[in-house]
Amino acid sequence: MNQAPVQFDVAIIGGGVIGCSIAWRLAQANLRVVVIERGEVGREASWAAGGMLAPSAEANQADVFFELAAASRAMYAGFARELREVTGTDIEYRTEGTLYLALTDEDEEELERRWQWQRAAELNVKKLNADCVQKLEPILNPKLRWALKFPDDHQVDNRRLMTALESAARQVGVEFWTQTEATALEVSNSQISGVETNRRNVATKTVIVAAGSWSSLLRATTDEAVMDFSVAPVRGQMIALAMPEPALQHVVYSGKGYLVPRRSGHVIAGSTTETVGYNKEVTAEGIASIIERAIEIAPNLSKQSFSEMWAGLRPESKDGWPILGMDSRINGLVYATGHYRNGILLTPITAKAISELVLQGESSHNIEPFGTHRLA
Ligand code: FAD
Ligand code: GLY
Repeated sequence: MNQAPVQFDVAIIGGGVIGCSIAWRLAQANLRVVVIERGEVGREASWAAGGMLAPSAEANQADVFFELAAASRAMYAGFARELREVTGTDIEYRTEGTLYLALTDEDEEELERRWQWQRAAELNVKKLNADCVQKLEPILNPKLRWALKFPDDHQVDNRRLMTALESAARQVGVEFWTQTEATALEVSNSQISGVETNRRNVATKTVIVAAGSWSSLLRATTDEAVMDFSVAPVRGQMIALAMPEPALQHVVYSGKGYLVPRRSGHVIAGSTTETVGYNKEVTAEGIASIIERAIEIAPNLSKQSFSEMWAGLRPESKDGWPILGMDSRINGLVYATGHYRNGILLTPITAKAISELVLQGESSHNIEPFGTHRLA
């Protein structure tokens, strides 16, 4: 490769929801941005997800992570509107809310615990009896005992979100280098100077690592230490069932699985949580467990046909929280990775916080708890 490197203000490694949304925000502020993507834009975890915006259903306590997630959730209506205005794409932001069913003694204990901490934190949560739940969603298992409703836990179609983000970013001049692998970070005198790729190199003073489950594999061309923390892949398998007409309005969780309705009428059922390295195979065991849990939630799903099955890799940091912020030693190296089970939910706040950090040196949301210092 003899071509001179191409100059950009910012290079972003990874073209998933995180990389594309940050690229969009930075290019809106007139920076020259390139997204370096090894494959096609948005075909990894961001494609595989369910699109649930569900901190109340998924978080276990009112801590700084919950605050970050709830702040991002609160941004979604405006985020969806803005994307629609600039791209014409409807990301199917839906506000019917999320139900969490108690089907067993174990579920009842879990829901009771969730009810207690959320009431104590004055969150919007409702207890519904079985009749009430059945009226809302007649397709659900008549053996359900009661449920919690989280009215503020919403959903989007994450594949539409990906399409919209790519299109919005292109409109403001972001360059996408697809089928291009970032092979190393160029660092000199503790300052980022560029990115080496398997095609053409980039010269830049700012690199944002948004490479999902592959983030901690990146190395520097020199022996400077970069990414001395781990982001590990955690496989999640999913299925989509074709429904003749929409039969579900809410996202529905049980203790063991979840169902996500799409406007098309499809119902997505998930998922598994497997530590199997960089392996995205769909397995008989994984799919069998998803089907069993889906049918427990809504028995009539057993009659529906499959329309798709797939798997993706959730990027998990050591403590399960995202890694957001500057490298402590190398100027110009910024991390936006490790979003694990909540990267779709955390997209608006990550894009805002990281773009502010790059543009102004600080973020309006306190992301200090998500810095690399905690992973040392
Ligand atoms: P990715 O989408 O994985 O993107 C990273 C990109 O980096 C990839 O495209 C990859 O090719 C590229 N890349 C990696 N290394 C390099 C390199 N060296 N050079 C160039 N490119 C590189 N979240 C929610 O909020 N709600 C949900 O309902 C939800 N459900 C989920 C269900 C499943 C089954 C899974 C797997 C995940 C789910 N998630 C959910 C989590 C969410 O999908 C992720 O947190 C999010 O997509 C992470 O986005 P990302 O952009 O960091 O990673
Ligand atoms: N947040 C849903 C999942 O990761 O499976």
